[in-house]
Amino acid sequence: MPYYTKLGNLPSKRHIQFRRPDGGLYAEEVFGTEGFVGPTSTLYHINPPTQVIGWKPLYSTKAQYVERDTMRMRHVKSMPMKAKGDPVTGRTVLFGNNDVEIGVCVPAEPMKYHFKNASADECFFIHFGSGVVYTMFGALKFGPKDYIVIPKGTIYRMVFDKPAAGEPTARFLLIESVNGSHILPPPRYMSKKTAQFLEHAPYCERDLRLPEMPMTFDEKGKFEVRIKSRDQVHSYSYSYHPLDVIGWDGCYYPYCFNIDDFSPIVGKHHMPPPTHQTFEAHNFVICSFCPRPLDFHPQAIVVPYNHSNLDSDEVLYYVEGNYKARRGIEQGSLSLHPQGIPHGPHPGTVEASIGATHTNELAVMCDTFAPLYPTKAALGLDDLNYPKSWESGWTPAEREALAASKGAGDAKPVKKPAKKAAKKAAKTVTAKRGSSRGGGSADTWA
Ligand SMILES: [Fe+2]
Repeated sequence: MPYYTKLGNLPSKRHIQFRRPDGGLYAEEVFGTEGFVGPTSTLYHINPPTQVIGWKPLYSTKAQYVERDTMRMRHVKSMPMKAKGDPVTGRTVLFGNNDVEIGVCVPAEPMKYHFKNASADECFFIHFGSGVVYTMFGALKFGPKDYIVIPKGTIYRMVFDKPAAGEPTARFLLIESVNGSHILPPPRYMSKKTAQFLEHAPYCERDLRLPEMPMTFDEKGKFEVRIKSRDQVHSYSYSYHPLDVIGWDGCYYPYCFNIDDFSPIVGKHHMPPPTHQTFEAHNFVICSFCPRPLDFHPQAIVVPYNHSNLDSDEVLYYVEGNYKARRGIEQGSLSLHPQGIPHGPHPGTVEASIGATHTNELAVMCDTFAPLYPTKAALGLDDLNYPKSWESGWTPAEREALAASKGAGDAKPVKKPAKKAAKKAAKTVTAKRGSSRGGGSADTWA
């Protein structure tokens, strides 16, 4: 993170004697990035963090991509994924390239060890479930719709609460920066002089939840830390609890940010995807599409224009909202629209959306600047009908069903795209907007 904070006990200066109650020295560790000219934190351990007593390679995490030479729209339904493994071993990469890996995890069991991703920053999006991530920087309580950004090198253990009766099984989306870059707020949101979030940013420091106590576990024994590096998870053994930090300060630490605290920016005319940007790393961005009022020009087309994002592949993870305006899409779906072919509203949805005044969509988007490839796991969940859904407009029965449904259908579909119909549509919009802002809602996926 770009701004300074601290937790726990610290000496008055860096690199001076700082003693434990038993008279021994705390072990200082400078946790630095970019060759110590990037964001850094300084931690004070009860035990030297260098004292490992053994290690062995455990398993490969190298994503196996398939259909690398095929460019097409894809739709993967992740909801049928069976729960497996723990919050680390249960991860399934669905799309990726040399910059980023995008996967889903439905953990079935708790982590019985601590984990460190020594290769990548991790950005979780918690779809369902709540719990605590115990990290060397302190504890982060999390719940549904939280982003959790865990920077490279952080030792942690993720503990999910047992779901209450009727609650869905825990599940999260995970975006990893496998090119070694760090996942940060976009620089344009930040003051160059103070690293403070600027007024135009859709979120700010008050929205971020930082590590809290408990932080320090002063325990001896045999503890396993699994370290991911070089596409391999290794098992390292320590003779003390790996979360033994008594205090730290700096600008490098994990944090949570709930997507409902993202303040969407709306306009008279349709706002482009960068308006929804939340984080970025080298060669990819993460955006939050949140419920919001729609464009307020009386003749506004509130769904996205067709667009060729010539340098980007786009993955959308659908969290909640109206899915009826996109054929086949459901909660937990991931769509991939590759660079090379334009995309936009599904056939028929432009007219169906006219007059809508708000959207209840909630989706997380990852745009990459290099082509994304599917894994074998993604193909196993592939909806082969998805590309076909773009071939033609909605059937009369489908449009009727859409109109009857809550959501996009609240805005009555216009029968004909002729001039006369367009004029009529404009009147409808004016009337709806004049009476209430809470009229129809629309699907406005990127
Ligand atoms: Fe797009």
